[in-house]
Amino acid sequence: MVTKVIKIDRQHMDERLLSEAAEILRSGGLAAFPTETVYGLGADGLNREAAKKIYAAKGRPSDNPLILHISAVREIEPLVKEVPETAAKLMDAFWPGPLTMIFPKSGIVPSETTGGLDTVAVRMPSDPVASRLIALTGRPIAAPSANRSGRPSPTTAEHVLQDMDGRIEMIVDGGPVGIGVESTIVDVTGDVPVLLRPGAITMEMLQEAVGPVETDPAVAGPVAADVKPKAPGMKYRHYAPKAELALVEAAVSEQTGEAVISRINQLTREKQSQGYLVGIICTDETKDCYPEGIVRSLGPRALQETIAHSLFAVLREFDDLGVDYIYSESFARDHLGQAIMNRLTKAAGYHIIYADKEERHG
Ligand code: TXA
Ligand code: MG
Repeated sequence: MVTKVIKIDRQHMDERLLSEAAEILRSGGLAAFPTETVYGLGADGLNREAAKKIYAAKGRPSDNPLILHISAVREIEPLVKEVPETAAKLMDAFWPGPLTMIFPKSGIVPSETTGGLDTVAVRMPSDPVASRLIALTGRPIAAPSANRSGRPSPTTAEHVLQDMDGRIEMIVDGGPVGIGVESTIVDVTGDVPVLLRPGAITMEMLQEAVGPVETDPAVAGPVAADVKPKAPGMKYRHYAPKAELALVEAAVSEQTGEAVISRINQLTREKQSQGYLVGIICTDETKDCYPEGIVRSLGPRALQETIAHSLFAVLREFDDLGVDYIYSESFARDHLGQAIMNRLTKAAGYHIIYADKEERHG
């Protein structure tokens, strides 16, 4: 299969060109497209065979459900049994935007889309290209992140092409995405909403809109093998770079100080002397403190939006360079930092090195 790439200017969308992508989706094919979070790999979400093609193209386990993307609030009605009151409030506050909610599913949503669950994830993206494409298709679009399973999510069309060339019909190139980490996921099927995946709609924003919100244990740390996380995707080692990644932080304070810098430098020298290629993830404030290794700053430490936006691209770059070990500074865990640290610790397989302590393995 030859993958056709079309360029769409967000400000002046070429409707005729975008209709080609809509036609592919309507006829059961796969087309990747930009959203405000990351690029999605789209298929007709109500077509079983099309949904199955997504799992094949990504190499994704078929029990990991997909998110349905809609272009107007009313399009949710046929997809769900009910819209709970908290969900209505959250929709008012954050749609269109980077918030996905879990609802009891209606009969028309095939089990191939929901990985066999009786709930369905729905989100209404704010990216104009995504929104127009969904409207032109006239169906809810099932779309996971457009990466091969286990790779960092794509934030540019080039990333999608790296992973999907020859595996899908089309890539709609709308330029780099705005946010760079996947949407916040909230389960609204119970009495109290539960955060399943942190994102740009932060815990603080959710609580301000609806009051108390719980956090699924899988957000903070590894789940035991016998526990079934609510978002099945959280059990996989996501966003995994090919290199072995460890976070380095100071146990007494999260701020990056001398202890973290000198531990990263020591680890880097050690691995380099053994012949390994080492990547370092840091910030603008510290990037000149690392004389060895391949040093990449995610941006100024205080600009969480910039840090989030750079993260996946840097992990991919290290993959492309064939880096063996990555040492990353750690970040504050509030606001967007919760999403940043969730992605980083998962990519690291929860390996954290405390700079002011002897390392324990486990
Ligand atoms: O920002 C995003 O959400 C991107 C863009 C393309 O919209 N999509 C995305 O999809 O990140 P994906 O498939 O990579 O991640 C979806 C996550 C998975 O962890 C999955 O387990 C969870 O959502 N999920 C989907 N349906 C669910 C359901 N019914 N119940 C619980 N979790 C669900
Ligand atoms: Mg994904």
